[in-house]
Amino acid sequence: MDVSVFGTGYVGLVQAAALADVGHRVLCVDIDEVKIKQLQRAVPPIQEPGLSAMIDDNLREGRLSFSTQASDAVIHGQLIFIAVGTPSDEDGSADLRHVLGVTREIASHMQADRTLVIKSTVPVGTASQVEAVARAELDRLGKGRLAVRVVSNPEFLKEGSAVNDCVRPDRIIVGSDDELARAQLAELYAPFCRSRDKLIFMDNRSAELTKYAANAMLATRISLMNELANLAERLGADIEAVRRGIGSDPRIGYHFIYPGCGFGGSCFPKDLRALLHTASASGQPLHLLQSVQDVNETQRLVLFHKLQKLYPEGLAGKAIALWGLAFKPNTDDMREAPSRYLMEALWHAGATVRAFDPEAMSECRRLYGYRDDLVLCATRDDTLQDTDALVICTEWKAFRVVDFELLAHQLRDRLIVDGRNLYSPQQAAAAGLRYLGIGLPYVD
Ligand code: UGA
Repeated sequence: MDVSVFGTGYVGLVQAAALADVGHRVLCVDIDEVKIKQLQRAVPPIQEPGLSAMIDDNLREGRLSFSTQASDAVIHGQLIFIAVGTPSDEDGSADLRHVLGVTREIASHMQADRTLVIKSTVPVGTASQVEAVARAELDRLGKGRLAVRVVSNPEFLKEGSAVNDCVRPDRIIVGSDDELARAQLAELYAPFCRSRDKLIFMDNRSAELTKYAANAMLATRISLMNELANLAERLGADIEAVRRGIGSDPRIGYHFIYPGCGFGGSCFPKDLRALLHTASASGQPLHLLQSVQDVNETQRLVLFHKLQKLYPEGLAGKAIALWGLAFKPNTDDMREAPSRYLMEALWHAGATVRAFDPEAMSECRRLYGYRDDLVLCATRDDTLQDTDALVICTEWKAFRVVDFELLAHQLRDRLIVDGRNLYSPQQAAAAGLRYLGIGLPYVD
């Protein structure tokens, strides 16, 4: 099929590459000329396993192309994906300026019927808004005879495994009551449903809410585990044992019950804010979700609070080694990353940070390169020179094996504060280290 994609961010780019890879002819447009020029040379603006090769192959095969011309994209695609950003507005609501702007632009170039597929995460009711905006523009330009169909098709990919999630989706939500639009989406996604039918059809509003509900459910599990971890610490219980104990119940399962230093990234915090805003505005506030957000706000400072307790005389002048800057492994994304809340609190308290991350070094330099209380180190072990304590924010594989004897020798205060529970408290203690995790009993 001929498909166009507006927006070459995470969602749009990965989706476009995956669709081209199964044989569709995909044209991507973005207003960012630099980005488009790089993509035309197969250089993606984001790091995702498998993405670069997929773009390269499909560019060469002529199934994938990039342009800044919206008009070309509207002529090209019978199906037009909208995958532009929906950042948080000041009040937490999703800012639909880009979504509605692109809709107007599409309508202004339309010369034939088109189906608009909303991939961006958008509040309930956006599909109707998109349809109304497109219709108004078509009418204004005397093109009222053209049909515009709007499908809500939320994305569920995870950063770090975006290509895999897109190529092997758990489910594909198609929100539309229009028979033709449903048939078009079924044809489009048929190559992804070879092992089993993954399409779930519903109305637009339910599809829009499904996306928020999924993230709300996952975030709730994490905040609950984080609260239980903090309680376990008080009570002298071990949250890792509790995690294994509850995860073995298939109704609970092992996914998304890892306690840590709070959830971050570009999705959970933003989507929670947007859903909370929608809920309050509709007169049905979500009390439980509000607490999920509040718990996370405290949790992303949990490592700093632990350090504060360990250094009652203050953190001024202390040098802290920090492993992990990305909000999770296998990405260089630092949006709302726990590491940022920690570093900013440490700097405020007068400490210096010596940081390392396997992928997010340039992103960190872009964000904080101007600071003289941040030293960006070339390797994880370089961070340990002249440092008082080690803090871990991201569970990269490269951090899993350490030499505790060496750490005890290098860290002046023989202290590790671990936001991801990577190590055995017993082994660390045996090497003479003070090791504090999340929800773990303290071993002396
Ligand atoms: C999340 C969802 O998992 C995707 O399904 C969804 O499509 C995406 O948001 C989105 O809305 O676009 P992502 O933000 O890439 O994906 O990352 P996750 O793997 O979900 O991790 C989110 C945060 O939760 C991370 O900071 C991670 O460290 C934290 N987390 C995750 C925990 O603290 N504990 C866990 O058990 C799991």
